[in-house]
Amino acid sequence: MATKISAGPSDGAEPTDRSRALFARARAVMPSGYTRDLVAAQPHPQYADTAAGCWITDVDGNRRIDWVNNFASMIHGHGHPAILETIASQAARVMNAVLPSEWEVRLAELLVERIPSVDAVRFTNTGTEANALVTKAARAFTGKTKMAKMEGGYHGQFDLLEASFQPGTEAGGDPARPVAVAHNPGTPQSLLDELVVLPLNDIANARAILRAEADKLAGVILDPWRLQGGMVRPHQDFIAMLREECTRLGILLVFDEVVSLRTSHGGEQARIGITPDLTTMGKIIGGGLPIGAVGGRRDIMAVFEMERGAGKVKHSGTFTANPLSMATGYVAMEMLTPEVFDRLERQGDRLREGLARIHRDARLPGAITGDASFTTMMFTDRPCANYRDLATAMSDGLAERLQVSQGLLRDEGLFTLRGNFIGSTAMTDDDIDWTIAAAARALPPLGRA
Ligand SMILES: Cc1ncc(COP(=O)(O)O)c(C=O)c1O
Repeated sequence: MATKISAGPSDGAEPTDRSRALFARARAVMPSGYTRDLVAAQPHPQYADTAAGCWITDVDGNRRIDWVNNFASMIHGHGHPAILETIASQAARVMNAVLPSEWEVRLAELLVERIPSVDAVRFTNTGTEANALVTKAARAFTGKTKMAKMEGGYHGQFDLLEASFQPGTEAGGDPARPVAVAHNPGTPQSLLDELVVLPLNDIANARAILRAEADKLAGVILDPWRLQGGMVRPHQDFIAMLREECTRLGILLVFDEVVSLRTSHGGEQARIGITPDLTTMGKIIGGGLPIGAVGGRRDIMAVFEMERGAGKVKHSGTFTANPLSMATGYVAMEMLTPEVFDRLERQGDRLREGLARIHRDARLPGAITGDASFTTMMFTDRPCANYRDLATAMSDGLAERLQVSQGLLRDEGLFTLRGNFIGSTAMTDDDIDWTIAAAARALPPLGRA
């Protein structure tokens, strides 16, 4: 059960009603009461009060294990002493200024040393911004304008790359040759014309599209680890095909490692042994504060050089490389040694084994998938190799099972998102076992639903 503690600010609401009261106020001043769509919950969100380690407590005093970790960014969980100390001491030194800080240099050095494709770095404030910037870099370097992405891929909220994130299957057209579908109303067709959409894991068709579009394609972007929150995995031979074709056709291959950097010390590219031309990063490299980055081959990153003149990509930003994000990012990343990644993986395996047992015993559809610190409950027996397969599974009960399971888990003290458990170094084996025991209480009713 979510543990109750007496907590929460005193605002006159009943101790069990503070979130409800806050949501009523929120609805008066924010559309639907929210400022991030993905945190919406029924009948209202629970508002955070405090968090420590892997536990988070809402203003009504419900304490749960945080398996979301702010969309995978809080790899050390909450309130890690070294991170708190860094924030406090750096805030007292310089919080923000137009003078660069040593932390920026240190974090850039760390990324260059660790990530195989990264010879040089430019920082941004979010992953979205990193993907917008990498698009400019790819265009400037190649002199071409189009970008290609996988249908169903998420690369943040930049209007070009957000297209075809979750298109209706009819709007997406022929699965072998998907068309670009706007993610938001009013997106100009002229912009969509600059996006090429590839069917993930379909080597023959994706290859044919790349060859047909090569003259106009500046770059191909993909998350090498996952699509749609971990429910679909890119196959290694598909990524190898992209690498080969991009090299042959003069297209830049971009890995969006905003999330997948949490799979290993050198990111997913080190694990699979395929090196892109450019990499975008975010989330864990900020140690819990806002961040993004673009890194890559030195000759490509030269598009940012001041001496370049007319060919230079302009890049700045009020909060870019702010000392707080740079400092916490460096400290967080430095704590992530290869041994720490191994421990995250071992704990992930322990969780996956426990959940798989429950899954089997409760006769739930599908399987427990994932690796490293990321575990996904795939409540479908349909094989999902691409976005279309997943969309079919979603409308065939998967979406509902994910939603119901999230509620059941929440009632047992687990905070998860869409079937995902995203670990942190704050978790002990006891926390994993606590999670498995809670899931064993929560999930069986789903099998009977
Ligand atoms: C693969 C991927 N790329 C980019 C982004 C966007 O990052 P941000 O939310 O920092 O803009 C996300 C966010 O979840 C992501 O998962």
